Order: sequence, then C-alpha cells, then structure tokens
Amino acid sequence: MSLTSEAVRIGVAGLGRAFVLMQGAFHADPRVRLVAAAAPRAESRAAFEDQYGGAAYDSVEAMCADPEVEAVYIATPHQMHREHVEAAARHGKHVLVDKPLAVTLEDGTAMVEAAEAAGVQVIVGPSHSFDAPVRLARDIIESGEFGALRMIQAFNYTDFLYRPRRPEELRTEEGGGVLFSQAVHQVDIVRLLAGGMGRQITAMTGDWDPERPTEGAYSALIGFEGGAFATLTYSGYAHFDSDLWMGNVGELGHEKPADGYGAARRALKELDPAREAALKSTRTFGSATPLRTPEHHEHFGPVIALLDRADLRLTPDGVEIFGNETREFRAAPGTDRPRHGVLDALVDAVRHGRAPAQTARWGMASLEVCHAILRSAKDGGAPVRLEHQVKTDHGETSK
Ligand SMILES: NC(=O)c1ccc[n+]([C@@H]2O[C@H](COP(=O)([O-])OP(=O)(O)OC[C@H]3O[C@@H](n4cnc5c(N)ncnc54)[C@H](O)[C@@H]3O)[C@@H](O)[C@H]2O)c1
Repeated sequence: MSLTSEAVRIGVAGLGRAFVLMQGAFHADPRVRLVAAAAPRAESRAAFEDQYGGAAYDSVEAMCADPEVEAVYIATPHQMHREHVEAAARHGKHVLVDKPLAVTLEDGTAMVEAAEAAGVQVIVGPSHSFDAPVRLARDIIESGEFGALRMIQAFNYTDFLYRPRRPEELRTEEGGGVLFSQAVHQVDIVRLLAGGMGRQITAMTGDWDPERPTEGAYSALIGFEGGAFATLTYSGYAHFDSDLWMGNVGELGHEKPADGYGAARRALKELDPAREAALKSTRTFGSATPLRTPEHHEHFGPVIALLDRADLRLTPDGVEIFGNETREFRAAPGTDRPRHGVLDALVDAVRHGRAPAQTARWGMASLEVCHAILRSAKDGGAPVRLEHQVKTDHGETSK
C-alpha cells in the first residue's frame, strides 16, 4: 500500500459530546483510523482502549508525542483549543479542531502563528459549512450558472439554551452562549457561500433568561466584498422549532420524533441545578448511546441564497433551485457517509498537503464575526468593520 493511500492515524483530544457526534463518521470511513486518545477521566480512557485498542493518555501533550499519531482531532472545551493546538503543532501533528477556533482573538492569532511556524495543517471543523448541501450550493454559486449572488438569509430557532450545560457554557466571556457555539456555524455557512470576505456588520443580541444569563439570540446584517449581503438570525430560546421548515429533519440529519416537543425544557425543569453538568456527561463517550446513521445530511436551519436568475433553498438532501421559469432539485450525494466533507478535507490535507477553505485563518475570520456581533450589539447596533477576513478558497499546498 502506498503512503498516500494508508489510513490517516488519528489521536482524539477530549472524549466528550463532540467526539460522540464524530464517531459515526470515523467508523464509516476507511481512510482514517483512531489510534490514541487523551482524556482526564479514567473511565473514558478505559472505554476508548476497550473499543479501539489504541493508547489512551491522561494528557494531550503525551498523546501528541506518540509517533503513531499523525493528526489530532481536538474536541476539548473551546477555551482549551489554543493549548491543545499548540501542543499538536509542537509535535508536528496536523490538526482538526472543533469549532470555534478559540474564544479570544488573541488565542486565535497565536494558533494561526503556531500552525504556520510548525508547517502543520489546521482545519477548523466539523462545522456546518462542511455539510454536503452547503458545498453544493457553493459550487452552484461559483459556477456562475445563475449570475451573481446578491443576498442570503439564514436563520435557526432551537432549544440550545435549555440543553444540559457545563457552567462556563452559560458565561459569555468564557465562550458561553449562542455566539461561540452556534453563530460560528451560521457565519461559516454564509461566509462560504458569499466568498468569505465580510466587510462590515451590524447586530443586536438577546439575553432574556435571568436563570441562564448569556446571549441566547441575535440578528446580524453582514455586508460582503462585491456587494452581496446576508442576514443571520438565531434563537436558542425558541418555542417554534425551525426544523419544521426543514422537513422535520433535525440538525444531525435524523427525522425528529413526534413526541419530542418541549423535551429540553421539561428535562431541565425536573433537574437539580447542581446536577446539570453531570447530566451533560451522560451524553459523552462511554455513557451515551451511539447515534444511529442519519437518513439525511446535517443542516443548520433554513438558508436561502438569492442570485440574479435563481433563488437557492438549502434542504437536508440538497439544493432546490427556483429559476426564472423552472424549478428543479439537485441532490447532494453521500447521505450514507456522515460528515464525509470534513474527513475529505482532513485526508486531503494530511495526505496531499491541500488545505480546505476552513483553515486556522478562516476560523479566525469567523471568530472575528462572532466578536463583532457582540460588539455591535453592545453599541446599540453600531456598524463594526471586519479586519481578519479571508476568501473562500483552497489554501496553499504545503507539499
Ligand atoms: N456538544 C455538541 O453538540 C458539540 C457539537 C459540535 C462541536 N462541539 C465542540 O466540541 C468542543 C467540546 O464540546 P463538548 O460539547 O463535546 O464538551 P464536553 O464537555 O461534552 O466534552 C469535552 C471533553 O473534554 C474533556 N477534557 C477536558 N479537559 C481536557 C484535557 N485537558 N485534555 C483532554 N480532554 C479534556 C472532558 O473530560 C470532556 O470529556 C467545543 O469546542 C464545542 O464547540 C460540541
């Protein structure tokens, strides 16, 4: 077997909820193999060794030093991403770091510098900008078939704020609230479709529940280089669930159960607040029931892109094109290979030195937009200029 066709050997940093969500993708893809993990809890390490037979470490640094590990998937809490990306870079390992890149722009800058100095690839993902319908819509826009992109509307109404949380997930300055965990998906999608180069933003945010005092909602208007503009709206307080407008398919691509209404708020109401973080840990690796393969692609709520000669509606299966005189549907392939977009990017980066759009610099640009939403809202919706934007582009080849 040639080196380029060998499976990429991955070490996982953090065996929590995000890893549970990625497991199906790792299992389904013979181009990658899980060989090591790092986790503070002995039970998680034992569960990993049982299931994968690799080496489980109690520190990310030690895992990164393992010569068997080629690339590291970092799925630790946001505020640890910098330390863990820097550790991987020090050991010359490529990185897939879950979104957001970091919480502060200062950490983001340090991570970009560490990756570039070490010559390793850093991909920020998974994020919903890797979803197959988003990439199909991007290809349609880029092809010029329907003229220029003019406007995008993206919105999502969820129960995000009422799912079980670690305490810092409800403290904005530590990366809590909907901006760093949720807006970053919507920003990634919209930037990917619009070419990446946001110019300025104006926004308002909502912090409406004193029991969970952080931003739970926002609306933002972004202007892009070239004149296109986009509105982004998100509510994590929702009673109306916008998945109803996505064929009742949830974010992870599963059809939603008919009796699920109000489940998150109901479960939280019955919970002793001191036990909330413990409840979250029942959804992590070693405790959670593995997810079944989804019937559809993942999505992040309704997205509509208006071009000169067509409007595109993204669905969990592809893109519906409303042209001047005809209407058609183009399917996005690969529903049987969950999250294959992000693994395509990882394999391409590690084996062929080809970076996807979602590099560390890209992650920094999306993080900048999240901070700009907070800043604009703090100033009553004043415009904020964006300075760290990068184009939707494939990065340089490093080999
Ligand atoms: N929860 C989700 O649905 C979800 C989805 C996609 C992405 N993410 C992203 O994944 C990241 C993790 O979020 P999460 O929800 O999985 O949190 P989580 O609390 O479920 O998991 C984090 C894990 O990191 C481990 N950890 C803590 N310190 C560590 C250290 N020093 N070394 C190694 N492991 C350590 C914890 O034990 C825990 O298992 C966040 O950046 C988040 O944005 C979460």
